[in-house]
Parts: sequence; C-alpha cells; structure tokens
Amino acid sequence: MKKTILVLPGDGIGPEITAQAVRVLEAVTEGSDLTLNFVEGVIGGAAYDAAGHPFPEATQVAALAADAVLLGAVGGPQYDSLDRPLRPERGLLGIRAAMGLFANLRPAMLYPQLADASSLKPEVVAGLDILIVRELTGGAYFGQPRGIRTVTVNGQSLREGFNTMHYNELEIERIGRVAFEAAMKRNKKVCSVDKANVLETSELWREVMNRVAKDYPEVELSHMYVDNAAMQLVRWPKQFDVIVTENLFGDILSDQASMLSGSIGMLPSASLNDKGQGLYEPSHGSAPDIAGKGIANPLATILSAAMLLRYSFGRGDLAERIETAVSRVLDQGLRTADICTAADRKVSTIEMGDAVVAALR
Ligand code: IPM
Ligand code: MG
Repeated sequence: MKKTILVLPGDGIGPEITAQAVRVLEAVTEGSDLTLNFVEGVIGGAAYDAAGHPFPEATQVAALAADAVLLGAVGGPQYDSLDRPLRPERGLLGIRAAMGLFANLRPAMLYPQLADASSLKPEVVAGLDILIVRELTGGAYFGQPRGIRTVTVNGQSLREGFNTMHYNELEIERIGRVAFEAAMKRNKKVCSVDKANVLETSELWREVMNRVAKDYPEVELSHMYVDNAAMQLVRWPKQFDVIVTENLFGDILSDQASMLSGSIGMLPSASLNDKGQGLYEPSHGSAPDIAGKGIANPLATILSAAMLLRYSFGRGDLAERIETAVSRVLDQGLRTADICTAADRKVSTIEMGDAVVAALR
C-alpha cells in the first residue's frame, strides 16, 4: 500500500516539529507493507512570503490530491499587520473549507507521567481522557454576511463589525453522528454543549442532537450550556467522555481542556471530511517566541501522525506503536522545556524525536 502525505510545516515552530513527526512516520513504517510518499507544501505566513497568499492554489491542489495532510502551525507577529484575507490563519481556514473538514477531533488526555504538569490537583485530572468533537466548517467562523460597515448611531457615524452564526440541520446532524460514533468506541457518553438559553442556532442544535441520539440508544446524551461547561471542565473534568460543540465554542473549550493535561504541547488533533481524508495537526499554535530555538515539544505533532495512521490509513496498529513509544520516552524521564520539572531530563526537539524513533526500534 502506497500513500501520499502532504506536509505543510507552516510557521514558527512548525518546521521543527513536523520534521520530527515525519521521521517517526518513516521509522514506524520501515519494513511494513505501507509505503509513505511525502510531498511538501507551504501554508500560512510561509506561503504568504513565498507565494503572496496564505493558501496558494498549488497547496490546495496538493491537499486535494493527497491521502492525508500533516500540518505544523501557522501565524506569527510579523504578519499581524496584514489585511485579514492575507493573514496566516486564513491559510488554515482555507484548507479546512477546501477539504470540507467539518469534524475536528481534539482529545485531551493526561499522561500519568505528567500528572504534576497540570495546574489542577492530581486527583482532579488523574486518568483524564476526554474527546472534544468540534464542528469546524460552520458557525461564526464562516457565516455570511460578515464584515465591518459604517452605521449611524444617534447621528454619529461609527464603524461596526458583524458576523453571522448559522447552522443547518445537516451540518448539525453530521457532526452529531461523528460524536456518537466516537462515543460508541469509548465510554458511551456524549455531552452536547450549546447556548440554547440565548441562541436560536443552539436551540436547533439541541433538537437535532436529540434526534441523532435516537439512533444510538446505548449512548447517554446530556446537554450543557457553554458557560457551565467551561466551569465544569475545571471543576470535575472526568465527568466528560465525548463533548460535541459548534466551531467557536469548540475553539475555546479545546484550549481550556488541553491545559488540564499539563501542556498543550502534548495534544494532537484530527480534522476529517466525509471522504475519509484528514488533516492532522497539533492542538497548539506556532509559538513564535520559541521558534528556531530547538526547544519546542514535538510530541503533539508526533501523536497527530499517529492519528493520521489510524483515521486516514486504517492503521491503528502502527498508531499504537507510536503512542506506546511516546509513553516509553516519558517513562524515561525525557521532557522538553514545556513539561520539564526539576526531576526530569530536559531534551531538545530533535533529541525528543531521536528518543521516540529509538523507542520504536
Ligand atoms: C485552532 C486555532 C484556529 C481556530 C485559528 C488559528 C484560526 O485557534 O485551530 O484552534 O480558531 O480554529
Ligand atoms: Mg484555537
């Protein structure tokens, strides 16, 4: 079996961390019946620098032709003054839309070896394993109309920003199914997070989730308002199994959930379309403050590569080998700066990659 992976390193620490994930993918497939063909492309600020656009045509063509995409991160302060359509983030939003990646899976799990790295008490987070299923191609991120217009208020001319949040039943249903299917393979609990006490989109969201739930009688569905969910996530996160929510709420809650696990540097993510294609990226950003220093944690990207093997290539066996290797490296006390305490051995990005490759072999 031969598969093509488009690698989009992006900006900041992106090139450093994707390089380690590619090495791990090469090592885990060595001598197996899966041959990987890596193609590299540009996205985000790097693409703006190289081609004048954060999501150039060539990258779009390569993404649609690839079997899967492995992405680093986008963004950096040097691009902050660009017009909105040229900003690095637009590269990410563009590829999500172009590939139709509506389902974003963001696990938040605590490696027992890192229990001390969490800012919460160990008993609150020990054994934590939740999955946030975030809708990724709808809501306020993409809703039209949007813009900045001039309005007159009490005779005064003012600029006003506006965005639109809308979800149709099909969009809600398909993300609901992803959440329920995931729950069937886990602890059979789905918590749908919304703001149904205020928003009509949420009212419909709730109704459709209840409808989808009828097809999964084994799964227990609950509903929670997003403000309460934010609170419950730090109060008693282990009450959750799968959380399903719309784009903007999911953006916020997934960052919050990631910190329960100590470091956002540990968490992978998968964004899937209905054709089984996927984009895999760490949950964290481009960390411009530490870019080029060789100290970034590559584990989230390495674990994203494991998700890639599992979800896009059906190779849960190889994915597990990577996950076990990561766990073994943590057992050895090796830590990049973000997860390092006094008792650990601090390693660089490359040394961490070396260690995972060595553990695989
Ligand atoms: C994420 C990021 C993106 C988002 C940004 C960079 C556009 O925060 O993947 O969570 O808001 O979706
Ligand atoms: Mg985010």
